[in-house]
Amino acid sequence: MTGFHLGPFAGATGFSDAVGLDEADPIFDFRERYHVADPELIYLDGNSLGRLPRAVLPRLEELVVDQWGDGLIRSWNETWWDLQIAIGERLAPLIGALPGEVIISDSTSVNLYKLAMAALGVSESRRKIVTDDANFPTDLYVLRGVAGALGGYVEMVRTEGSTSPMASLEAALDEEAALLSLSSTAFKSGYTYDIAGVTALAHRAGASVLWDLSHSAGVMPIDLEASGADMAVGCTYKYLNGGPGAPAFLYVRRDLQGSLASPIPGWWGHAEPFAFDLDYQPAEGIRSFHSGTMPILSLAAMEAGFTDVAEAGIDRIRAKSVSLTEFFIRQWEEHLAPLGFALASPLDPERRGSHVSLSHPEAWPLDRALIEIGMVIPDFRAPDNLRFGLAPLYNTHLEVHTAVQRIRAIAMTGAHAPFAGEKLTVT
Ligand SMILES: Cc1ncc(COP(=O)(O)O)c(C=O)c1O
Repeated sequence: MTGFHLGPFAGATGFSDAVGLDEADPIFDFRERYHVADPELIYLDGNSLGRLPRAVLPRLEELVVDQWGDGLIRSWNETWWDLQIAIGERLAPLIGALPGEVIISDSTSVNLYKLAMAALGVSESRRKIVTDDANFPTDLYVLRGVAGALGGYVEMVRTEGSTSPMASLEAALDEEAALLSLSSTAFKSGYTYDIAGVTALAHRAGASVLWDLSHSAGVMPIDLEASGADMAVGCTYKYLNGGPGAPAFLYVRRDLQGSLASPIPGWWGHAEPFAFDLDYQPAEGIRSFHSGTMPILSLAAMEAGFTDVAEAGIDRIRAKSVSLTEFFIRQWEEHLAPLGFALASPLDPERRGSHVSLSHPEAWPLDRALIEIGMVIPDFRAPDNLRFGLAPLYNTHLEVHTAVQRIRAIAMTGAHAPFAGEKLTVT
């Protein structure tokens, strides 16, 4: 749309607050580490796909030219074979895990399958998997598949909006429950569970717990060890900025590793892969959860994102995340609530992850108009949800201020009306 004013909106309330908050931000300079081709474009989708860390390009060049091009197959022995272990070790402290408890492997969906199968497999009398309806669909499909394969069943606890479902979870965790599996931060509302509290609840009922940390890793303080969590999985391409399709992570508490068996006993999980034994003998410890050959290019691309999170420090990242989401909500209240945007995320920052969801009956055309003419990228979650991911390593309060003013301008002028067309494949 010609003449659409992109800001900054110095006359709108909150402008000087945004500038002041950015000036006082101790991790503001991390933004420089990310590829930002067009500073007018406000990217609020780091909870789907994190921005590209600049350090990725030289790392990939080294890998492709020196290690693949020149080193060829020799590079497996020189650097590649244990790369997923080394990167898992770097991730471990960011989620409160100990050395030897985390590997990078497969996708989140596949890792969830491996661990849910293993957990239900060792539970002889209990057959129920408990989850909630705020969980990501892949989790629900996988858990139902696992239950079906092992003669179990899934009880899906209903959650209402963003209120705490603790009482319903407690009721579902009866003597039949073998496993509780939840997303620590819900993909739509951003509701975030008290991991330690929920884990204790499940353990009191005799069930083990499998967390999906996809919307928490790299942005929320997680202490798997202190919380007593049994198992966890998660994506690395969101707040960990690992790149599109980057492989996922998998955590198994050390004392459980001997008793849980992977349902995909691939050669990478064998005690001696190059013995080429006809029989499977699981490797010791977490390595037995490997299945097959890792995507080395993607693994190498993940390193920079993990380094940034470690250097910025998860406490400073969380403090900025809360500041960004609080500021967004204050701006919503004043400028967007009167235009029919409803808050679909918790008001309490303790129970909120790093994205803010707004619902609006015209969310789809608004999403398209924001991207096409507003130069703001959120994402759309059916039926009426606009999701704004706030990534502390590169988003700023001024971006939040400007984005809210652009949303307001589009909604007030009806500039989104021509965008009510067909849905795209990826929203
Ligand atoms: C909470 C959660 N779990 C799992 C997934 C899917 O993971 P994958 O497609 O890598 O298996 C997503 C994807 O966005 C997600 O948000």
